[in-house]
Amino acid sequence: MVLSKKDHLVGLDIGSSCIKVAEIQISKKGKTLKKFGMRSVAPEAIVEGRIMDMEAVADTIRTLFKSQKIRGKKVAISTGGQSVVIKTINTAKVPEKDLQKAILAEAEQYIPYDIADVNIDYQILGESEFSSEQMNVLLVAVKKDLVAEYMDLTAMAGLNAAIIDVDTFALQNIYETLPGQNPEEITLLLDIGASKTSLNILRDNISMMMRDNGSGTLQVIEEISARFETDLVTAENILQAPVADAPDPQVMASILQDLSNIWCSEISEAVHTFLANTNDAGISKIVLSGGGSYIQGFADDLKTELEAEVVIIEPFGGLDLDEKKFSREFISRVGPQAPIALGLALRRVDDK
Ligand SMILES: Nc1ncnc2c1ncn2[C@@H]1O[C@H](COP(=O)(O)OP(=O)(O)OP(=O)(O)O)[C@@H](O)[C@H]1O
Ligand SMILES: [Mg+2]
Repeated sequence: MVLSKKDHLVGLDIGSSCIKVAEIQISKKGKTLKKFGMRSVAPEAIVEGRIMDMEAVADTIRTLFKSQKIRGKKVAISTGGQSVVIKTINTAKVPEKDLQKAILAEAEQYIPYDIADVNIDYQILGESEFSSEQMNVLLVAVKKDLVAEYMDLTAMAGLNAAIIDVDTFALQNIYETLPGQNPEEITLLLDIGASKTSLNILRDNISMMMRDNGSGTLQVIEEISARFETDLVTAENILQAPVADAPDPQVMASILQDLSNIWCSEISEAVHTFLANTNDAGISKIVLSGGGSYIQGFADDLKTELEAEVVIIEPFGGLDLDEKKFSREFISRVGPQAPIALGLALRRVDDK
């Protein structure tokens, strides 16, 4: 299938610390990476997924598109965090024509917001494992004001948001294109960004549990800023430099170790809550993404904590790319931060 130009969308991941953009060409021959770039957002311009400084963020997006020479205006974007509710519910099977009404009636009890304030979407996952009369449905509710905020932002940047996806789904979307997986293994996709962590436990490529919390690299940056008495930008530079270059490497190592311990116990708790409700003994594999992947020692600590294989995602693995344009060094450096933009770039206008 060769997709016409009009179906084509630019993937735009509006992270709270860093905006990423990607373009992928899909043809009979495969998927080819055309563009990928990232640009930092001013500190506090986006707080917990909410746009605080529209003009500054729109400007960052415009500059990024310009520097990458991206002419496409139709984008796929995504949201996540506290304003997005994702739940798997179990409900009676009903005929197709009554489905929407039945699910909306059920949805009310699962969503902590007024139903009038959210956009609801759903996907049937299949028959319930407990009864042939029941089915599992994935329910997604996004606050309307959040959607309006992101639509305004993209319009201000001169773009048109054709799809508003969910971060976790975009990550799963690119993950499914990667080589070397065993879908039967229980796998945790773990994205630790600047201001949120999202967990998605998969079996047979179906999500068994999704959960977000407010942990992220911003916690480390704030701690560095407090301990070394620096502003946030300097603290972020310290974070990104080798530990040996920190003002006090020993203090720096202990900041990172403390954070790693906190993250490990939060993740372990979420995983054990999931396992308590299933017959599974443990998860086999953890695929780590987001800026949290760079934290020294964290992947090893997580491996010990959950007795699982831990790998850092290599999201370009299923794409063809020109190594003269995208060096190996670049691809491996930006890999952890790239998957959501890449997953969004695979979406098409007629996708749900
Ligand atoms: N080499 C590095 N070492 C340590 N930290 C790094 C490195 N490169 C980037 N980071 C940190 O990663 C964070 C950004 O990660 P990411 O791009 O996943 O966040 P985001 O998508 O903007 O945030 P969120 O998803 O929470 O909105 C920043 O805090 C940045 O300082
Ligand atoms: Mg992110």
